Amino acid sequence: MSTETTKRGGFGGKLAAILAAAGSAIGLGNIWRFPYITSENGGGAFIIIYLGCILLLGLPLLIAEFAVGHNSKCNPIDAFAKIRKGWGWLGAMGLISVFLIMGYYFVISGWTINYTIASATDSIGGDYGGFFTTFTTDIWKPLIFTVAFILLNHFIIIGGVQGGIEKASKIMMPLLFAILVVLAVYSLWLPEGREALGNVFTPDFSKVTGKTFLDAMGQAFFTLSVGMGAMLIYGSYFKEGTKIAGTAISVVTLDTLVAIIAAVIIFSAGVENESGMQLAFVAMPKVFAAMPLGNVWSMLFFLLLGLAALSSTISMHEAVTSYFVEKRGMTRTMGATIVTLGAILLASAASLSLGAWNEYRVAGMNLFALLDNFTAIVMLPLLGILTSVFVGWIWKRSDAKAELTAQGGVDKATYPVIYFLLRYVCPVLVSTVFVFGIIDFIKSL
Ligand code: PHE
Repeated sequence: MSTETTKRGGFGGKLAAILAAAGSAIGLGNIWRFPYITSENGGGAFIIIYLGCILLLGLPLLIAEFAVGHNSKCNPIDAFAKIRKGWGWLGAMGLISVFLIMGYYFVISGWTINYTIASATDSIGGDYGGFFTTFTTDIWKPLIFTVAFILLNHFIIIGGVQGGIEKASKIMMPLLFAILVVLAVYSLWLPEGREALGNVFTPDFSKVTGKTFLDAMGQAFFTLSVGMGAMLIYGSYFKEGTKIAGTAISVVTLDTLVAIIAAVIIFSAGVENESGMQLAFVAMPKVFAAMPLGNVWSMLFFLLLGLAALSSTISMHEAVTSYFVEKRGMTRTMGATIVTLGAILLASAASLSLGAWNEYRVAGMNLFALLDNFTAIVMLPLLGILTSVFVGWIWKRSDAKAELTAQGGVDKATYPVIYFLLRYVCPVLVSTVFVFGIIDFIKSL
């Protein structure tokens, strides 16, 4: 076996690092989840709380995760253990969470293929809700698309860090931005679009509860992919001298812009009353159908959703694959195959839980909803608390500082702020929101 350093891949440069990490961040979370969570939680009021969570918690945590990865240059489990012996479990907890997320994320990702094709061939028909229910509760059809999507990931991952992930990100991300801009310009060009938009972004603080803060925080962590090893592994592929904070700021800016623009596109179509996961898959095709060239817009929208999903899922897959390659000594192809097979099993079960297996429930939730809620409401906040405690309190202060400032060369002004946020603000705020949010959640059951 060759040595660790010769075996490890890495990104070619700064742009590649930003595109790949932005690809991980920008996903279903931005285009599918953010708009519906916003409309359920009081529109503009939610956005204000969300932006607060992004700046005070998400950004510092993203920097922390990049730093741990970049410093240790290994998979999430070894990364924590290398910095402080006995802390490998934190990396393992992240990998388990990201695997659970893959379980339902791949299912929705698979739907985007069917919807892109059905839009292109104009075959969704007039009953949008019916099409969605018939398709998602079917046994085989969604399974086939989900497996196809997982295999797409598989082939990118076995292509390697530069030949697979970097190359795919460099093609997908510009395409994604282009489609997003075209759709946004088109929706704002419609006068009824501009009007609907005003209604949704106007803050309604009466809808804000403890759970709103938990939702906003969970969304911030989810959309930035923090705590789960995905950003850690990408950080480990950053070249020497990459500015950690600068890269994180670029990623956060792009991610936030895409979320807001996606909300603009969706709300300007006048669908703010539609809630839940139906927002993107039922309301959007209906709106597009009423427009000239509707099926082209619809196809572009689902292509956008699919691209965003793919650039995110490769980071999830890579995080878990890196464990099998580096910790279990497997070849990249072998490690990736295990992850692919595991993902197919879990995602198939999640897909079936919407139809044939829908009666099997825990706390009233089928497997699909359980995976989503458990990771977003429980695992993400816990990982947020633990990661900030690790960098703020467990990592030797001078070492953390050296890493965060690239040996004192960069970010000297922002470092104290970031360190303060990680050491005090994140643990206290995330724990508080977590406890109160859970109490609220249990009361609402
Ligand atoms: N950030 C992605 C999104 O918003 C989801 C994700 C979570 C990606 C965890 C990687 C790891 O859709």
